[in-house]
Amino acid sequence: MAPVSNLDQPVIEDVSSIDPALAPFTCLVAAEAARRDNNRQDHIGTVLSQFEKTYFGPEVGHVRRVFNKKLMAHMKIGGRLLDFGCGGVWWKTDYWPEFSHVTACEVDNAALLEIAKEFSDVRLWWTENGIIETSERFDVVLSSSVVGYILPEQARHHLSCAYQLLGDGGQLVMTRVLAYDLAAFVRSRRLVDIPGPSFAYHYTRKELVTMLGDVGFKNVRYIPLGVRLPGLNWRWTQRLYAFAPGIMSNILPYILPFFKIQHMLIAEK
Ligand SMILES: C[S@@+](CC[C@H](N)C(=O)[O-])C[C@H]1O[C@@H](n2cnc3c(N)ncnc32)[C@H](O)[C@@H]1O
Repeated sequence: MAPVSNLDQPVIEDVSSIDPALAPFTCLVAAEAARRDNNRQDHIGTVLSQFEKTYFGPEVGHVRRVFNKKLMAHMKIGGRLLDFGCGGVWWKTDYWPEFSHVTACEVDNAALLEIAKEFSDVRLWWTENGIIETSERFDVVLSSSVVGYILPEQARHHLSCAYQLLGDGGQLVMTRVLAYDLAAFVRSRRLVDIPGPSFAYHYTRKELVTMLGDVGFKNVRYIPLGVRLPGLNWRWTQRLYAFAPGIMSNILPYILPFFKIQHMLIAEK
């Protein structure tokens, strides 16, 4: 993808669904978009490698790289991709260049502006309620780290929308969904407040599989992404993913299922 040299006014299409039943989500989505935008202002211009020197959470570093590799191993590449809740520019060069056409959709307009500066041939879509109205169909819809930050009722709409947007035989890749792990279970906290303020929601594998089936998906496959060992901080967890990626991501999720940190599910229309 070629860098953009002179794009002051990128074209961002409003694809918001006009269904009045979705109105309650507009406030939630707007609050989340504003929080993401504030976050981005703090990191804008931050080179990822610099950020990774001071921040060790699972969104970045070796953990993220291992999870991205697993994602790439399962995505049907080559066709038309909708990156639904794409976020900003980080990580996009890992998978966008593998597709013939990429559409980036966000509720956070600032993320799309950031993308427009670096990717000239990506179509930009914005939705105020998180749901998209279009007659277009895609080969792959990617929902990466979106469902862990929306409530179950919203997640159901998000997945139902993804289903509508796929052509027959199209693939949904839902990845980096927060797992309902031992820490969340012991603290009885599925819904966790995070600074911003915002929240994260921990889903069980069963809930996600059921939701996918309910909205029409078939051939649902579950792939755990990896574990976090109890008592180990994120800095050390990152080191373990650097030195033993296969053990952390492929073996331990089956031996220590309650220490899983994130889920991936692949499904077909
Ligand atoms: C944690 S970020 C993940 C960004 C990117 N997909 C990634 O994997 O790095 C979650 C993104 O989902 C977007 N988002 C939040 N609610 C959404 C919704 N209801 N529908 C679509 N995207 C949403 C947010 O604006 C944010 O950019």
